[in-house]
Amino acid sequence: ESLTIGLIPADGIGREVIPAARHALEALGSDIPKPEFIDLLAGFEYFTRTGTALPEETVQILRQDCDCALFGSVSSPSRKVVGYSSPIVALRKELDLYANIRPVFSVAPNPGEQPNVDLVVVRENTECLYVKDENLSEGPHGKEARATRLITERASRRIGQTAFELALNRPRKHLTIIHKSNVLSITDGLFRETVRGVPGLPDSNGKYDHVAVMEQLVDSAVYRLFREPQVFDVMVAPNLYGDILSDAAAALVGSLGLIPSVNQGDDFVMGEPVHGSAPDIAGKGIANPLATIRSAALMLRQLGYDTGANRLDKAVNQVIREGQILTPDLGGTSKTQEVIDEVLKKI
Ligand code: NAI
Ligand code: MG
Repeated sequence: ESLTIGLIPADGIGREVIPAARHALEALGSDIPKPEFIDLLAGFEYFTRTGTALPEETVQILRQDCDCALFGSVSSPSRKVVGYSSPIVALRKELDLYANIRPVFSVAPNPGEQPNVDLVVVRENTECLYVKDENLSEGPHGKEARATRLITERASRRIGQTAFELALNRPRKHLTIIHKSNVLSITDGLFRETVRGVPGLPDSNGKYDHVAVMEQLVDSAVYRLFREPQVFDVMVAPNLYGDILSDAAAALVGSLGLIPSVNQGDDFVMGEPVHGSAPDIAGKGIANPLATIRSAALMLRQLGYDTGANRLDKAVNQVIREGQILTPDLGGTSKTQEVIDEVLKKI
């Protein structure tokens, strides 16, 4: 019996942190079925060489041969590049990984963090402005650019169900719906009302009655996140707000290099650190590998391998608490490889 894991390092520090997860998974021994890794191609660098950012073969192997996957990070350019489209955004859609789960929590005593933060951003992963339906036209006063923002009842319902389920299984059982319905009453209105309606769905059978539902406009949610992050438990948001909120929340616990995520659908799961390809530090060997190891843990937990997942999390938390072997983003002086070795020692 084995566990086949597709590895897609892609660009920049993605290539430096994916090996960390690989080594950590290998160190788990009999806690998980023997891991078999398949290296898969994608990314902007791959695009510049071949003209495609996500080869069909990668998607096919993920679908046919892999039990799960880990994605590194991609260096998407900020200007329009003809023929290029972000492979991670495409993969989420291709594999229908409709929920992106991003836990942010403090592991005291870590000097860069606010104490007692323990929240999860549940980000809708397939629509909103990320449908990338944009166009440019010539108007009477110059160029006009438009983007379509798609919010569907189906996607809002299933992300709502994911969020309620998560909240139900956490000690505080709080759910905050993030929206901007005061301005975008149709799109965000549909999101808000559909999520609110989840407990009343026939298949909910009253099981969410003990989840306390709150809501907050996205702008004041950011304010509150910085003032009193401890009030938040599970936060559910449309795609773009979820993307922004999770990077903001990362600042509360010291570094983006600590925040993991999983992209999950009904039949596949792909772990992915929340951070990007970090061109400012890429190639220096100092990227923090902990977000990626934690992403591997989330992936394992989603597949039901709790013992392995817990061991990875415990090892990472121990390294953070001891505070001796840390990368520069956490105030340390250690290299990526030294942090990986330290985690392996704890495992
Ligand atoms: P970024 O997340 O790459 O970096 C933001 C800041 O955090 C930088 O100062 C970076 O050095 C630091 N940082 C991030 N991860 C770190 C780690 N593991 N260890 C230590 N420090 C870390 O975001 P940025 O700079 O806005 O974007 C860079 C590129 O990444 C862009 O091309 C963007 O398109 C791409 N990106 C890709 C994502 C993905 O693959 N899912 C997500 C976000 C951005
Ligand atoms: Mg992001």
